Order: sequence, then C-alpha cells, then structure tokens
Amino acid sequence: MKLNIALLAGDGIGPEVIDQAVKVVNAVANKFNHEVNWTSALTGAAAIDAVGEPYPDETHEVCMAADAVLFGAIGHPRFDNDPKAKVRPEQGLLKMRQKLGLFANVRPTFTFPSLIDNSPLKRERIEGTDLVILRELTGGIYFGERGRKDDGNTAFDTCTYTRAEIQRLAKLGFEMAMSRSKKLCCVDKANVLESSRLWRETVQDMEKDYPEVEVSYEFVDAVAMRLVQWPSSYDVIITENLFGDILTDEASVISGSMGLMPSSSIGLHTSLFEPIHGSYPQAAGKDIANPLATVLSAAMMFEDGFGLKEEAELIRSVVNKSLAEGIVTEDLSGKDKKAYKTSEVGDWLAANI
Ligand code: IPM
Ligand code: MN
Repeated sequence: MKLNIALLAGDGIGPEVIDQAVKVVNAVANKFNHEVNWTSALTGAAAIDAVGEPYPDETHEVCMAADAVLFGAIGHPRFDNDPKAKVRPEQGLLKMRQKLGLFANVRPTFTFPSLIDNSPLKRERIEGTDLVILRELTGGIYFGERGRKDDGNTAFDTCTYTRAEIQRLAKLGFEMAMSRSKKLCCVDKANVLESSRLWRETVQDMEKDYPEVEVSYEFVDAVAMRLVQWPSSYDVIITENLFGDILTDEASVISGSMGLMPSSSIGLHTSLFEPIHGSYPQAAGKDIANPLATVLSAAMMFEDGFGLKEEAELIRSVVNKSLAEGIVTEDLSGKDKKAYKTSEVGDWLAANI
C-alpha cells in the first residue's frame, strides 16, 4: 500500500520524538511492503520563526494532500508569559483543527503491566483500566465568541454547540462503545450549563438507535474525582472540548508517565495522530524525552488511518517488549536503572520490528 504521510514535527521535543516514530514506521513499511511517502511541513513556533504564521497555508496544503498527518508537539515558553503576543504557536493548532475539520479527538488511557507501579495511583485502583475519552475538538468555548468590553476590564468567552456537532461526536462514541464493552458515559455540567443540557438531550435521543449500549450521564466534577478513584469503571467517555481537554490530561498520567499515551483526531478531510503530551521545552534537544506516545500514535495511524491492524499490533507488541526489557527513557527508568536516550529507544524499536 502507498502511505502518504504529512510530517509535522513542531516545537520542543516534537522533532526528536517524531524522528523515532519515523524510524518505526519505516521499519514496519519495509516489513509489510508498504511504500511511505513522507512530506514535512512547518507548524508552531518553528513556523512563526520561519514565516511569521503558526499554521501556514503551505502546511495546510501538505496536510490536505496526505492520507494521514503525524504530529509532534506545539508550544514555546517565550510566548507563555507574554499575554500581549500577537501570534502564538497554539493558534496554529486550533487553526489546523478547524481547517482540517478534526472534530473528534480520541484519547485512550490504558495501563502497561510492567509499569503498574509507576502510576501515581495505587495498583488495585488502576489494574484493568482501559478507557477512551472522545473529546469534541472543533466547537465549544475554544471556538466561541470572545472578547473584551468595559474598556478592557471585562473579558468573555462563550461556549456554543449545535445539535449536529454533538450528534456526529456522539455517533462515534456509540459506535466505539459497540466495538468495546457497550458502555458509554456522557460527561457534562447539565445542572448548570445550557450547552450541556443540549448535549444530554441529544445523546438521550440517540440512545434508541443503540439499544445495546448502556449510557450513563455524569457531571464533569464528579468524573474528575472518579477518574482517580476508579478509572477502570469507565469505558467510552464522550464530552465537549474544554472538559475533554482537562479530563484527558488527568487520565493520561494514570498509566505512569505523560510520555506514553497516543491520540488520534478524526477529521472531515484527513486524520491526525499525535502524542497527548506537549512540547516539554525543558527537555528539547537533550535526547531524553520518551518517544513511546508518538510511536503508539503511529500505531493508531496504521490501524485507524490506514486500516492496517496487523502493523499496528506489531508496533504495540514491540513497545510492550521494550518496556518489559527496561529499554526506557529516564521518566520510566527510576534512579537505579539505566536510562536510554530517546534515539536509542527508537533504534531499538525499529530493530525489533
Ligand atoms: C491539547 C492542548 C491544546 C488544547 C493547547 C495546546 C491549545 O492542551 O491538545 O490538549 O488545549 O487543546
Ligand atoms: Mn490539553
């Protein structure tokens, strides 16, 4: 099969972790006789520095022409403490989500048997955790009307959702629940917010089309609590953009390191695959960041982007093997064990494919 992949390394550790995923994808392609055609393009602070824009039109064209986008990370600290900065790397990410129509962000959380004790939570609480948060990604407060009034002394951001936006996300959630354990949890704040009441009403209306799926409705504050108490009680969670942003960061550390969890964003035009973690600027250029979240995102790309399940399974099994054999970066090695470099982990994975 011919695989046309747009490669957006981005900022911070992005380029380093992306390099390892490229090694692994090339090794898999070689083994299964696929032809990979990589096209690199600029995003984030790197693009601002080069062309003054975090998601340039040329980059958008590269993404539109690709079968899938593999993405590193975006963000640079020099923008974070400058509230008046005119362009920010993150704007590139939002523009990209909007222009590619990436309406559903799939963020799984699962545990690795060899890493159970790396989790900040107790073993008995997290064993068996295998959940997916489906975060709506192109609506809500991220894209609502915002501004200042009262001579700049009042600021507002608005959260708007249409029934159609909720339906297309919820449809994916129901379908995903059908292919897993038939449990769906709709997370909202319907005791306060009108937009949440529309979410609940819309999902309730859809229940009759999926009679086998057991649906629960929970408030986001309660879910934030239950996710650390009994994460294994959840299967598929659907939620709006901002709640999903917060809950997926919370869920991502359950596995033991921020550097482990992959994600995909399902789009109207093309789909995008990226690690859940950010650009980790403190580690940039040091060859110490954990590349596994990006490598596992490449596995999601094979399975969900190209429908190549065997290739995805091979990547996952090699990742499991690396963890079991202690071929890990410093976030996982612990004090007394050897920490491998980012590039060494990538080389090891590619060699074991
Ligand atoms: C994420 C990030 C982004 C978001 C930021 C960088 C704009 O936190 O992908 O979760 O808030 O969506
Ligand atoms: Mn986030």
